[in-house]
Amino acid sequence: MTPSPLAELDSQKAALLRSIAALSTLDALRESEPTITGKRSILSSLQKSLGSLEPEARRDAGAQLQEARREVEDALLRRREELAHAQRAESLGADRLDLGDVVVSAVRVPVSMGHPNLVASTQRELEDVFVGMGFTVADGPEVESDWYNFEALNIPPAHPARGLWDTFYVDLGEPETVVLRTHTSPTQIHLMETAVANNSLPIHSVMPGRCHRRDTPDSSHLPTFHQIEGLVVDRGITFADLAGVIETFTKSYFGADIAARLRPGYFPFTEPSAEFEITCTICRGEGCRTCSQTGWLELGGSGMLDPAVFDAVGIDGNEWSGFAFGFGIDRCAQMRYQVGDMRALIENDTRFLRQFS
Ligand code: PHE
Repeated sequence: MTPSPLAELDSQKAALLRSIAALSTLDALRESEPTITGKRSILSSLQKSLGSLEPEARRDAGAQLQEARREVEDALLRRREELAHAQRAESLGADRLDLGDVVVSAVRVPVSMGHPNLVASTQRELEDVFVGMGFTVADGPEVESDWYNFEALNIPPAHPARGLWDTFYVDLGEPETVVLRTHTSPTQIHLMETAVANNSLPIHSVMPGRCHRRDTPDSSHLPTFHQIEGLVVDRGITFADLAGVIETFTKSYFGADIAARLRPGYFPFTEPSAEFEITCTICRGEGCRTCSQTGWLELGGSGMLDPAVFDAVGIDGNEWSGFAFGFGIDRCAQMRYQVGDMRALIENDTRFLRQFS
């Protein structure tokens, strides 16, 4: 009778387990794997030699060998985990960054970060330009009484100009009519009232913020949009100061080849009033579809503060004069970045939004 091919199995297995325990790196483990459990291993050649046994003996030997293989494979798996763990701990130790109280011990996989919407970043850029010109930035409420949104701005009830600023009326069950503001101009009233109360004139401020109108959304209108208002109240302010501020702003924000022009216009709260237009940013003044072949795009309104507004807030128009201007932030973003359809600004399509990160 030939000796069983598995006669030495116990000591062979013990040798394999010892060699596994002796592996000290993942690389060494990877290299030794074929000779421990793979094709070139003793386990595999023993497997082959079972072919010469009688069926019954082969079944027993097979089971025995299977058991030994499982033990060796388990040991190898555990060793792999130990080594991987040790290697990770070691590299964490090496990469450890000691910042005093804070110890950075792991580097996270980069997470994709959001960024401000184009309208928000445009607002910041506009604020920066005006701050650079000496303006401060002020804020005002988005929900206003009829008085701030209309009456103090010389738009009495039933005035036809109210049609230009149709809005959403909020019913708070109060005697006072409350509206979502239709423009940032009511913030002018708040600033002037506060300055009068604190005796802190002059004012040189810009006031950005969200506004609402009963408009149907289209490629150049949104019912919820943003404006930035400018207000200067000081001694000896003239229309030339207004024109100079508009021109300086336009060149700093849109670039030296874009000019501003003021065209006679009408606003109840300014006199004289002017529409504020800039060179078409699409055709640079040549004339195209966007500017209806005029070479100019309308951006907003402006004018010298109307004496009726000074009266409403209690400023002496003999001592002080001033100007105001206001224009759309969304419109500005649309013109500067040539956004064909303004609705893209609020539709949350990240393929569009990502372009402005
Ligand atoms: N509030 C006006 C509008 O929304 C713009 C404007 C602001 C006009 C300041 C004159 C002065 O149309």
